[in-house]
Amino acid sequence: MGDDVSIDPWSSSQSTDYDRIIQQFGLQSVDPTLLPNPHMLHRRGIVFAHRDLNLVLDAHSSSKPFGVLTGLMPSGKMHLGHKMVIDQVKWFQEQGADVSIAVADLEAHATRGLSLAECRRVALEEYVANYAALGLDVENTSVYFQSMRPVVQRLGFTLGKRTNLSEFEAIYGFKGETNLAHVQAPLVQAGDILHPQLEEFGGLRPIVVPVGVDQDPHLRLTRGLAGKTNWFNVKPRKSGGLVIGVSVQDENSEALGIAKDGRVNKEKRQSIFDKICSLLTNLGFSDILSNPKHGSVEIPAATSRDRDLIRPELLRLERELGGLGLLQPSSTYHQFAMGMTGDKMSSSRPETTIFLSEDVKVMGKKVKSSFSGGQPTLEEHRRLGGNPDIDVAFQYLRYFFEDDDNALGEIESGYRSGEILTGQMKQICIDKASEYLSNLGEMRDQNAHIVESFLANDALL
Ligand code: TRP
Repeated sequence: MGDDVSIDPWSSSQSTDYDRIIQQFGLQSVDPTLLPNPHMLHRRGIVFAHRDLNLVLDAHSSSKPFGVLTGLMPSGKMHLGHKMVIDQVKWFQEQGADVSIAVADLEAHATRGLSLAECRRVALEEYVANYAALGLDVENTSVYFQSMRPVVQRLGFTLGKRTNLSEFEAIYGFKGETNLAHVQAPLVQAGDILHPQLEEFGGLRPIVVPVGVDQDPHLRLTRGLAGKTNWFNVKPRKSGGLVIGVSVQDENSEALGIAKDGRVNKEKRQSIFDKICSLLTNLGFSDILSNPKHGSVEIPAATSRDRDLIRPELLRLERELGGLGLLQPSSTYHQFAMGMTGDKMSSSRPETTIFLSEDVKVMGKKVKSSFSGGQPTLEEHRRLGGNPDIDVAFQYLRYFFEDDDNALGEIESGYRSGEILTGQMKQICIDKASEYLSNLGEMRDQNAHIVESFLANDALL
């Protein structure tokens, strides 16, 4: 297809053709009715797509552990767009997830030209202070710095062996002149995303990464890298059921019973296949065709749903045998609220957004001069009605400030019918936003003393 959309995580423009994005990158749509206590961002279709969210929901419904990890670059001030990510983290936390948040200081250093020292200051004063104010549970939130967590960097480095410049060119459009720190950033992010599964960070469990859809390239990369490290894979079997295959790599050939000279230690291999069979038996399968010679185990009666059951057991076995045993991360994606000027929201253009520490008066001015979906004249507005879909004041109520669906629905239809005027719409937004910002300011003050407690031990100086 000639008119494919592209996603560039560092670009200042972003496709809003969300159906297309779902289709082109193979995302799944979010069905809010399948979520426990859906958040307004789910109910309104703002969190619109995901990958493998079912793994997390299954863990939740069977009271098994699951985690959430996300990251933010500590560049500039925290604004409404960033808040959306933390709102989702908080929602997952309320559903029982443990929380890790990366301060993406290496990435900000690589792509935004900030020193690591500046990143630290901004992270604490602007970001973590607001995480506390936004109501994350300090008992169950761990904020760390990319630059201060060696395992994250080591994992990124190790995963780097599974990719190459051509793949980076294909995913990110990197070219010969691309700075190498910038090339490293996605690998560090892969380390961020996967490291909570390591034993010392909580062990194997589903990890969900809530992000803006601009970050999906990183998830595609990370899922691919994790998959390539896996020793065992589970695929549909041609004649029905599933088949487990063994993936022999430099790193695991010895553990899988293949000597340096290529000779196969049959006993060792047999014992691994026995372990696979026994984990399948424990899961309740009885029809199991083990074929060590072909490196496969067939399970004719398994359904595609059973994959989710079998996979973690194989990852456990991989770990037992000395492998990383990494599960591909789950992710959810939100749409972007429009910038206040009608184009993209960006922290480097203050007129396009509202900062979480914004003075209420400044906020009021921004809303008053924001892009509107009203008609040019009062007469036309009454006759034709306004368009809430492109109206900043309405959209900000929808994304950020009005959590009552009925109230929002009334505002929307009032605007469409022409009953609510543009100035009134803006005033509704200003009132709600004032209340929100002043509450948040209070919470920031109230929680200032616990900001440090959000930091992981390795984040303390
Ligand atoms: N790349 C993200 C951004 O641009 C920040 C980030 C770093 C991140 N590590 C992460 C996001 C891990 C999600 C998961 O803001």
